[in-house]
Amino acid sequence: MLAEPFNWHPGMWKMLIVVMCVALLGCLQAQELQEHVSIILLGATGDLAKKYLWQGLFQLYLDEAGRGHSFSFHGAALTAPKQGQELMAKTLESLSCPKDMAPSHCAEEKDQFLQLSRYRQLKTAEDYQALNKDIEAQLQHAGLREAGRIFYFSVPPFAYADIARNINSSCRPGPGAWLRVVLEKPFGHDHFSAQQLATELGSFFQEEEMYRVDHYLGKQAVAQILPFRDQNRKALDSLWNRHHVERVEIIMKETVDAEGRTSFYEEYGVIRDVLQNHLTEVLTLVAMELPLNVSSAEAVLRHKLQVFQALRGLQRGSAIVGQYQSYSEQVRRELQKPDSFHSLTPTFAAVLVHIDNLRWEGVPFILMSGKALDERVGYARILFKNQACCVQSEKHWAAAQSQCLPRQLIFHIGHGDLGSPAVLVSRNLFRPSLPSSWKEMEGPPGLRLFGSPLSDYYAYSPVQERDAHSVLLSHIFHGRKDSFITTENLLASWGFWTPLLESLAHKAPRLYPGGAENGRLLDFEFSSGRLFFSQQQPEQLVPGPGPAPMPSDFQVLRAKYRESPLVSAWSEELISKLANDIEATAVRAVRRFGQFHLALSGGSSPVALFQQLATAHYGFPWAHTHLWLVDERCVPLSDPESNFQGLQAHLLQHVRVPYYNIHPMPVHLQQRLCAEEDQGAQIYAREISALVANSSFDLVLLGMGADGHTASLFPQSPTGLDGEQLVVLTTSPSQPHRRMSLSLPLINRAKKVAVLVMGRMKREITALVSRVGYEPKKWPISGVLPHSGQLVWYMDYDAFLA
Ligand code: BG6
Repeated sequence: MLAEPFNWHPGMWKMLIVVMCVALLGCLQAQELQEHVSIILLGATGDLAKKYLWQGLFQLYLDEAGRGHSFSFHGAALTAPKQGQELMAKTLESLSCPKDMAPSHCAEEKDQFLQLSRYRQLKTAEDYQALNKDIEAQLQHAGLREAGRIFYFSVPPFAYADIARNINSSCRPGPGAWLRVVLEKPFGHDHFSAQQLATELGSFFQEEEMYRVDHYLGKQAVAQILPFRDQNRKALDSLWNRHHVERVEIIMKETVDAEGRTSFYEEYGVIRDVLQNHLTEVLTLVAMELPLNVSSAEAVLRHKLQVFQALRGLQRGSAIVGQYQSYSEQVRRELQKPDSFHSLTPTFAAVLVHIDNLRWEGVPFILMSGKALDERVGYARILFKNQACCVQSEKHWAAAQSQCLPRQLIFHIGHGDLGSPAVLVSRNLFRPSLPSSWKEMEGPPGLRLFGSPLSDYYAYSPVQERDAHSVLLSHIFHGRKDSFITTENLLASWGFWTPLLESLAHKAPRLYPGGAENGRLLDFEFSSGRLFFSQQQPEQLVPGPGPAPMPSDFQVLRAKYRESPLVSAWSEELISKLANDIEATAVRAVRRFGQFHLALSGGSSPVALFQQLATAHYGFPWAHTHLWLVDERCVPLSDPESNFQGLQAHLLQHVRVPYYNIHPMPVHLQQRLCAEEDQGAQIYAREISALVANSSFDLVLLGMGADGHTASLFPQSPTGLDGEQLVVLTTSPSQPHRRMSLSLPLINRAKKVAVLVMGRMKREITALVSRVGYEPKKWPISGVLPHSGQLVWYMDYDAFLA
């Protein structure tokens, strides 16, 4: 009998362990109850603090003090104590309680909160030391154990470094307690400045101590994206991919303009202000591979980074930009600029993003935001493809069943006709499951959203609406790092946006009147990786004295350059002319010989041409076209620097050329790059001789470098300018130095050679080369003289009108 307790069934042991764990947890929680948190709000009298942060802190107090935590709130600023105290008191007076709280209870809570809140001036190193002493004295006096300290930086970024240094040197809590510093954007202006700021902050704080706020991550509909995807895995698993998603729109429209904020806005503009952060964060939540455990911050952040890695680089043509008409005038007034000043800062932008992974390849993600638009609304809309055909007439379609009605899922961030955060799922998709903190909602009768009546959706809204900052303050308190921007995340985002920002730096935005008057002026379309406005810019909206000339105002100029035909026009028109000429040549060659051999240069000038050929030339005989490279850099073909990569990104992936007709240069053999012994140049020459009759290409497209180089034949090149060799290895003055190139003798065998020259940077060389004779050693381009073929120069006005 005595032995019985030791013969417990294994299940009973398990139960005992569970009971002990629960008890232990209880003890730990009880211990946590004694812990104290100090919250220091820097910039306590500023706008953000007034509008959101104090209210958020009060909410935190209501939520957590009830659970036994003790708090002290230190409002801090540079303002002198008396004045600061008064300003802060005014804000605290206006704090509100949740709607369902009795007024007497509310007054009591507010009173207690006020007693825990103090203003202090934080200016000098001594002020920070005094703050530390006060916190320690308070803890000791009340016999409290310190849980941690939160420093909320609601200050401009130029103040970060000083504050960070002071906190690090005199305000760190003792061992066992945590430090959390909360930072508000902007986190830099581009990749470089973000990196600098991150390095600076990194010298004071550990990564886990920093909480960079993107307040969109605290918006209820945004915070619901991952939990929703998780809870509805079963229904979404088969739908959440390129086979079923037609496109994704991530939109934030505003009616307000930038008046009163132009000193900030003029430096940032809409892409830095909204797209780089808020909309990109939403994009990653929609696009990321769903972690098994969506509450694991580590997994969420890792999956987010994978999205950044798969983003296709943006080109200038991936974006359109606009500016509301009175913006420049506001800048002139607020920043005391002269009357002649016209800002190029965009206040509206739409960008087409592609994600090159198996799930999303080919699905357009459209990010769009603007000030002075017709309505205020934000949402992420996933529009599904409709591949069904319904046989019965429309009147028999039932919303819940008909596969022919639109199918969409919308995370409605706020405002708009709905007026609140919501999740909408078309009834013909599936009935979603949401947590109990969301309830089914009804909208005003007759309301239509995204082309369907509200009744066609399962529609849910939060039981209790909460402000984003208050949600995030709670996440900071609970150490939920997945709602914040890590350094890696931040730099990945800037890495993605910076090249586009640079390429748009001098682009004149389309002007729009603002509000409802915008009409269709900002409507845009997209195809094959490019976005464009649907309508031509009306002339009266062009800034400056008198209307600016449009490309169509100019005739395509035909003349001679170096005694060969010259085609000259504004760049857009020039490219379309060249593309038409290439297509015509291709069609003729295929008609006569059954195939067309085209040799293409790399670099930036032909990118627009490739895009034009890919998007607007449906009659191009790609199936009979052989594509050759004029030159190549000695890097692996998968390297972004490789000319072949440019061809792949802008042309090959959009057209159907048979694989065996594509002839990259063999720069990578035997696991090494352009080694003489591997005879890559000879291999390519043999391939050309074998496939191209008389080694005479039907068309060779060349460019002209600012030093007079063409293909990868540089001034004074010891090879390739004459002699027997068809393909040569050469050396470039700029990196990567090693190159492979067609030789001048081979180029000159072509039936047609087109030289494309674009941009102001080419003005000098264009003028110079027009005067020189045949001197390929000095200017290799001057050696381009097809023996029996034709040479045509294509120059845009920027390059030619010197
Ligand atoms: C801020 C931008 O981050 O977000 C503002 O700086 C913008 O320009 C604001 O107006 C929009 O936020 P919300 O919460 O009003 O949608």
